[in-house]
Amino acid sequence: MHGQWSSRLVFILAATGSAVGLGNIWKFPYITGENGGGTFVLVYLLCIALIGIPIMMAEIMLGRRGRQSPINTMKLLAKDENRNRNWVWLGWMGMVAGFLILSYYSVIAGWAMSYIFRTGSGMFIGATADGVNSIFGDLVSDPERLLAWHTIFIVMTMIVVARGVKNGLEVAVRYLMPALFVLLLMVVAYSMTTGHFMEGVRFLFTPGKITQEGVLTAMGHAFFTISLGMGAIMVYGSYLPRNTSIAQATMFIAAADTIVALLAGLAIFPIVFANGLTPDAGPGLIFKTLPIAFGHMEAGTLVGTAFFILLSFAAWTSAISLIEPAVAWLVENKGVNRLYASMYMGIATWLLGLGTVFSFNIWSDKTWTIPYLFKDYSFFDTLDYLTANIMLPMGGLFIAIFAAWLMREKSSREEMDTTDWVYKIWRILLRYVTPVAVIIVFLKAVGAIGVVE
Ligand code: PFF
Repeated sequence: MHGQWSSRLVFILAATGSAVGLGNIWKFPYITGENGGGTFVLVYLLCIALIGIPIMMAEIMLGRRGRQSPINTMKLLAKDENRNRNWVWLGWMGMVAGFLILSYYSVIAGWAMSYIFRTGSGMFIGATADGVNSIFGDLVSDPERLLAWHTIFIVMTMIVVARGVKNGLEVAVRYLMPALFVLLLMVVAYSMTTGHFMEGVRFLFTPGKITQEGVLTAMGHAFFTISLGMGAIMVYGSYLPRNTSIAQATMFIAAADTIVALLAGLAIFPIVFANGLTPDAGPGLIFKTLPIAFGHMEAGTLVGTAFFILLSFAAWTSAISLIEPAVAWLVENKGVNRLYASMYMGIATWLLGLGTVFSFNIWSDKTWTIPYLFKDYSFFDTLDYLTANIMLPMGGLFIAIFAAWLMREKSSREEMDTTDWVYKIWRILLRYVTPVAVIIVFLKAVGAIGVVE
C-alpha cells in the first residue's frame, strides 16, 4: 500500500504540474503552426472538452480505487469487477508510453535549459530572425551538447523520483507555475506591440483547412497535454485522499492547461508574422521566436532567462509523472527500492533518448515510412507519433470502455462520489461520445494517411 498526498491541493498542484509542460509551450504552438491554425485549435479544444475531461475523471477514479501503480491497479480492478485478466495490458501500454515519451521529452527539455544560458548571456539582445535561427541550428546540430543537457535533465528527474514524488513537487508547482504564467503574459504583452497581434489571433481562431492527419494530431495532443491515457494521472489519483472531488479537480487542471497553451499561441504567432517567419517551422518554433521577443522587450534578458528557467521546471514536473508509473511498478512488483528503480529507469530512458538526440543531427537523413501510418519520419517524429497519436488515445479509449462499460455502476458511482447529474453526464459522455469520437478519428486518419505512394 502506498502513501497519500498531504492534501487535495497537493494533488491538484501535482497533476497540474504534470499537465502543464513542454506540451503547452513548445508543442502546441508548433503543431498548430504545422496544421494551419484555427481549425486545428478548435478540434483540439473540442477534444479536451468531450474526450479529455471525461477520460481524466475516469483515470483519476480508477487510480484512486486501485491505489497502486497502473499495472497493479488494472489487475486489481479487473478482478474486483470480474473482468478479463488481460486488462492488465492497459497498465503495461501506459508504462511503456511514458518511458518512450520521456526519452524525447528530456532532449527537448535540454533545449529549454540550454536557452537559460543563451538568453542569460545577452546573446539575443537586438536579435534578428536570422541570428536566432542560426543559434538554434548550432545547438541542435551538435550532438555532444544535446547529449550533455539530456543527461542533466534525466539525472534531475530521477533524483526527485527516487526521493518519492510527493517531496519537492509542491513547492515547484505552487510558486513556479504562477510565475511562469506571469512571464507568459509579459511575452503576450510584448506581442501586442509588434503590430501583428491580430494576425496571430486570426491565425489561431479563424477556422480554415485541416487534414485528417491534422485531426488525429489535434486529438493526440489533447491527450498529451493533459497527461492522459498512460497512467500518469492514474498513478497520481492513486495517492488521492477520499474526500476530494474528482470532477472539480479535473476541471481546474484542464482549464489551467488550456489557458497556458492558448497564451503560448498568442505569445508566439504575432512574433512569427512580425518577423516574416513561417508558422510551420517545426519543433524549433519557440526557440526561433521567443528569443526575438526577449531581445527587444524591456528587461528582456532577465525576463527571458527567468522564462526558460521556469519552462525547464514545468518540463521537470511533467517528466516526473511520465516515469512514476514505471518506478512505482518496479517498487511494488520487483522488490527494488525507489533509488534503484529510478536508476534503472533513468539509464534505460537515457539510452533511448540518444535516438532523439541524433535525429536532429547525425541521423537527420535517416527517415522511414510505415504505410497507413506515416511517411518519412525521423526517430523523434516516429516516437512522437506512436505515443501521442496512437498509444495515448488508445489507452484513453480502453480506460473509457473499462470505466463506463465494464465497471459496475455501483463501483464507479461510489468512487466518483459526485452529484447525480454530474455523474450521469460523465457516464453518458464516457459511454457514447468519447469512445466513438476516438474510433472515428482513428479510422479516418488511417484511411486518409493510407494513401502513401
Ligand atoms: N502533459 C505534459 C505536457 O504537456 O508537457 C506531457 C506529459 C506528461 C504527457 C505526462 C503524458 C504524461 F503522462
